[in-house]
Amino acid sequence: MGAEAALLKPDWLTYPENPAELNRTIWLDNFQRDESGELTVDGCPVTELTEKFGTPEYVFSESAFRARAGEFRDAFSQAFEEHGAEVSVYYAGKSFLSTAVAHWAHEEGLNLDTASGGELAVAMRAGVPGEKIALHGNNKSVAEIRRALDYGVGRIVADSIPEVQLIAQIATEMGKIAPVMLRVTPGVHASTHDFIATAHEDQKFGQSMAAGTARLAGVSAEELESLELREDDAYATVAVALALRAESIDLRGLHCHIGSQIFEAEGFSKAAEKVLGYMQELNRRFEVELPEIDLGGGYGIGYIEGEQPRAAADVATELADSVSKTCANLGMEIPHLSFEPGRSISGPSGITLYTVGTIKNVAIEDEHGETRVRRYVSVDGGMSDNARPVLYDADYTAVLANRAPAGEQVLSRVVGKHCESGDIVVRYTYLPEDLKAGDILAVPATGAYCYALSSNYNMLTRPPVVATKAQQEPRLMIRGETEEDLLARDQGLL
Ligand SMILES: Cc1ncc(COP(=O)(O)O)c(C=O)c1O
Repeated sequence: MGAEAALLKPDWLTYPENPAELNRTIWLDNFQRDESGELTVDGCPVTELTEKFGTPEYVFSESAFRARAGEFRDAFSQAFEEHGAEVSVYYAGKSFLSTAVAHWAHEEGLNLDTASGGELAVAMRAGVPGEKIALHGNNKSVAEIRRALDYGVGRIVADSIPEVQLIAQIATEMGKIAPVMLRVTPGVHASTHDFIATAHEDQKFGQSMAAGTARLAGVSAEELESLELREDDAYATVAVALALRAESIDLRGLHCHIGSQIFEAEGFSKAAEKVLGYMQELNRRFEVELPEIDLGGGYGIGYIEGEQPRAAADVATELADSVSKTCANLGMEIPHLSFEPGRSISGPSGITLYTVGTIKNVAIEDEHGETRVRRYVSVDGGMSDNARPVLYDADYTAVLANRAPAGEQVLSRVVGKHCESGDIVVRYTYLPEDLKAGDILAVPATGAYCYALSSNYNMLTRPPVVATKAQQEPRLMIRGETEEDLLARDQGLL
């Protein structure tokens, strides 16, 4: 590595001694290089994929997705079984959903967590039975709630008192009993980006368990009294009392999700402790036995060098141990547990392929006033197919995919083709010095929150998603958009 590069790169990035080697904390075994050095996905060479489906292209390994879904299913059920507890695993569809993916998740024995009427529609189209589906969201519409109840979803996760009231009202009108979980904020600050941390108080999700927040519940003093509550109770306690009083609601329990891309076990254990303690308080106070707790998802994956994602078995064992210890301390039975991993199942299962376009060296001044050079490599996609770098400062890595990345490696920044200087795909990576226009780059771990967050910014068409499976020809899972698609909703000259 040249002296100038050291000033331009973060500490975690090291010069690749063997640039053809795929870092296995980022790349699953479904991704390999063949004898010529070309990257393959489930045995299919990337050039075959790009010749057939073009670039940019999302490639999603069905084999990897199914294997990871199975790992989480088995890890959680085994870990909790050891403590005599039952568990359900919901795949968080928001991370990446298509009809086929919903079907695979169902076939692998996972339930499905949907975050909108649209995600619910995909699950319905895939034939996922209602009782296996959860509907989430902090602002569900009447139509979404109606549809969920009509289809008989296994649970609606209510995020506020107005939602509890709305669900009760709609269920009454429909002559249904709505199975409801209440999302609470355990007040644990997870160490992740602020926009994906969701259990501290000052954000939009969940209902506060903190004493004194009942006064924020928007219910009158008389109503509080009629519920036998006080102003020094918690907002969530008011929601629980209202849900228990509503004849059209079957209150199943509490839900929390502390955030996403979290590596440490501590935050999850702390949240579990707090929610279990609170549930026991509710059980005593309202003389009920709420049967279930959902502890959400959020398990981190490897995007870049140095990140150490934990295996599903370790995550599950730590959670099962801490839940069982907490329940023993509280003197309560372990309730039915559920979990909602998304990224940790879909993320490493997908990659994005891009074609290299213009390559440009840019002079920058380092902190000592010395002029240095950064190599900018432009590709044919960008923030419209991967918004995470712009949204969360997310870091990725990239490799040369169509041939072996031999020779000298140069510190590079991979950028998109959008009209934003923040349109960065990979902030820091080493790529071969001889990289040229027409080469194919692969960005790993793009299976989650990339297609799901994609847009048509600058009128780019969304790329296709191609599914691969060991011993099978690659199949188009979601076709890429065309210019006709772009123009289809535009009503023309008015
Ligand atoms: C309620 C809920 N459950 C599960 C998830 C999935 O999180 P992850 O994909 O990080 O596992 C999310 C992500 O935002 C969420 O909001």
